[in-house]
Amino acid sequence: MIPSQVFSAYPIEDFRAHEAGIRDAMDRVLTGSSYILGPEVSAFESEFADWIGARHAVGVANGTDAIELLLRAHGIGPGDQVAVPSHTAVASVSAIQRAGADPVLVDIDPVSRTIDASTLGAALAREDARNVKAVLAVHLYGHPAPLAPLQALCRTNGLLLLEDCAQAHGAEWEGRRVGALADGGAFSFYPTKNLGAIGDGGAVCTNDDGIAERLRWLRQYGWAERYVSHVTGINSRLDELQAALLRVKLRTLDQQLKRRSALARRYEERLGSVGWLQLPAVSENVRHAWHLYVIRTPHREALFAHLSSAGIPVALHYPAAVHQQPAYCQLPPGSPGLPQTESLLREILTLPLHPYLSDEAIDRVCESILSFPLP
Ligand SMILES: Cc1ncc(COP(=O)(O)O)c(C=O)c1O
Repeated sequence: MIPSQVFSAYPIEDFRAHEAGIRDAMDRVLTGSSYILGPEVSAFESEFADWIGARHAVGVANGTDAIELLLRAHGIGPGDQVAVPSHTAVASVSAIQRAGADPVLVDIDPVSRTIDASTLGAALAREDARNVKAVLAVHLYGHPAPLAPLQALCRTNGLLLLEDCAQAHGAEWEGRRVGALADGGAFSFYPTKNLGAIGDGGAVCTNDDGIAERLRWLRQYGWAERYVSHVTGINSRLDELQAALLRVKLRTLDQQLKRRSALARRYEERLGSVGWLQLPAVSENVRHAWHLYVIRTPHREALFAHLSSAGIPVALHYPAAVHQQPAYCQLPPGSPGLPQTESLLREILTLPLHPYLSDEAIDRVCESILSFPLP
């Protein structure tokens, strides 16, 4: 059994690595003039927008709200449909429903594990997908969705292309960071994300001044000016404490992304020739943000048990697709199935990966996999 500190938890390690800066930042906020939508949020929004390469970043309360408000800012709501992969966090789909729209669940490409553009094309031709107004491309695990074919499809069909970047801070497509490559991107700063707060947080990036303005209204009761609601908004504000802390962590994010990549390479070097394992592939012209390292094997159940009993914290992202969840049960009658999603889900396994893991920790995981007695 491996001592648990070898695989220490990422959020607490991330706090320790930034502790002095975080304590200073907290102090600044506590003794400052504003706790809500003050100077820290404004500064973080402009620093994060610069880092992404977007004109605007608008801080909100979490990643689910970021998706909902992005949809609403574009006028998507009741009567509209949004195409989205079923292989994603449930939040991607619940946000669409909270905006009042209906999800159209689409299958994935098993190699990139993101939405499959040709299946999407076929779905868009269906009679029951007539009201699709947008595609929500999820850059799952940190691997960008196939933006070139998606852009072409969206252009042909007059659809918006929105990005769910909750797992993809720092992922790149053709040398540009995801988040403002199309009609807007939603980010989560949940503590385990590549850029994580000490609570909930989120942001929307956009290059469109009008959308940014609507997002600022929507996140605060629809106010265009204080106490004057121009649209029906909600309360979804990023708070000053989280923003101040995110500013501290943003400064080391590039370095952390490099470390994530180095650890992913180490897995690849040690496990690349194991025939019964499929390691995550990286498409051409993209940079993976390595939020999660997800392998695939027909021996998933036995390997999960083997690694767990050796004290290695493995996980499943996710145990079920959205259409297999009790609350979202079943595709609408008549929909084609999602065979790639369903077969991938039976075989995936998430190995430990975060920037504070040592090379030795990765080696221990690999040794344990290499000693797995194939059933
Ligand atoms: C792909 C994806 N989309 C959306 C979200 C929602 O983010 P939050 O938990 O901040 O609401 C998450 C978070 O887990 C996610 O992984």
